[in-house]
Amino acid sequence: GKSGYDHYMLKEIHEQPRALRQAISGRIDDLGTEVELDVGLPEEYLHSLEEIQIIACGTSYHAGLYAKELLETHADIRVTVHIASEYEFTGDRDPWRTLVLAITQSGETADTLSALREANRAGARSLALTNTLGSTVTREVDDTIFIRAGPEIGVAATKTFVSQVATATLLTVHLGMIRGSLTGQTVDALLNSIQDLPGAVQQILDQESTIKRAAQQYADSDAFFYIGRQAGYPVAIESALKLKEIAYDHAEGFPAGELKHGPLALVTPDTPVIALLTAGTNAEKTQHNITEVASRGAPTIGLTGSPDVDPDLDLTFEIPECGLMEPVAANVALQLFAYHVANEKERPIDKPRNLAKSVTVE
Ligand code: M6R
Repeated sequence: GKSGYDHYMLKEIHEQPRALRQAISGRIDDLGTEVELDVGLPEEYLHSLEEIQIIACGTSYHAGLYAKELLETHADIRVTVHIASEYEFTGDRDPWRTLVLAITQSGETADTLSALREANRAGARSLALTNTLGSTVTREVDDTIFIRAGPEIGVAATKTFVSQVATATLLTVHLGMIRGSLTGQTVDALLNSIQDLPGAVQQILDQESTIKRAAQQYADSDAFFYIGRQAGYPVAIESALKLKEIAYDHAEGFPAGELKHGPLALVTPDTPVIALLTAGTNAEKTQHNITEVASRGAPTIGLTGSPDVDPDLDLTFEIPECGLMEPVAANVALQLFAYHVANEKERPIDKPRNLAKSVTVE
């Protein structure tokens, strides 16, 4: 059942601290200095790997974009991220040295399975990041890492996104250690940030009434724009997707720097602009974009660790310190924002029109 919550989505949003603890549990050693992730692929293989191709759809694709940021920076490996339905295996590389990483909550998404089959036929090795034991994807890859988020009933993916990113961070440290690309200091920083995440998410959940008030205040806007850089970008497009799905409002996420190359024309006093300004998002540069939209009269909301960061912000949602996981924590605040906009409009949040939890047709 919904354990007293009005919707499964809200229950699942509130389950995130626990889901994250489960994702991490037993995967970091007692000293907190090493990852113990059971990846079946041989170490020599992971050492000599040339490229990871991530294939995924929807929210899982956004988790893939986040994973790319982490893997390229810390595991010294080239990563390409593909919307599964657009994927074609590129045959000009040694397929054996390409690892295809299928990210799928359900493990049953037809577009993702079809991309995976193409890669398998071409001779790539494959790994799944999934939430679902015994799912189709687990039978068609060389190895699987489970995100252990527990069942997700709401059509909108919430706790599975944060668990995908947390698990991908563990995979990054695992690969970085094998490939010799990580210093002890960076390992500590990454592992601390993952371990701090469940507590940070709890602190965000504790601010729900503030986020709800903001959602009620802006629920009637013409559109919602989300901007971010680096790891803030996947979170921007993920947050926009959440709002589209459950509130049926026009919402878009943009790399903050792209605003002035076109989308700025859409900005009016009736389009709130929501900016990711945490660690790992090159916030200083994004502040210029806030100034630009504020001068066009747009309401602005910033997700930041330092509430006084920008006088042009109308509102801030405060994000507790958790290093490179801060954009993930910010995502939780924006799940709540989308939820409360949709709830204000009395949308059928757990079963949005036209959508299915698991998309088993191409
Ligand atoms: O089960 P999967 O992770 O493969 O599903 C992929 C998408 O269908 C899914 O994330 C979809 O975008 C969600 N409804 C987003 O909230």
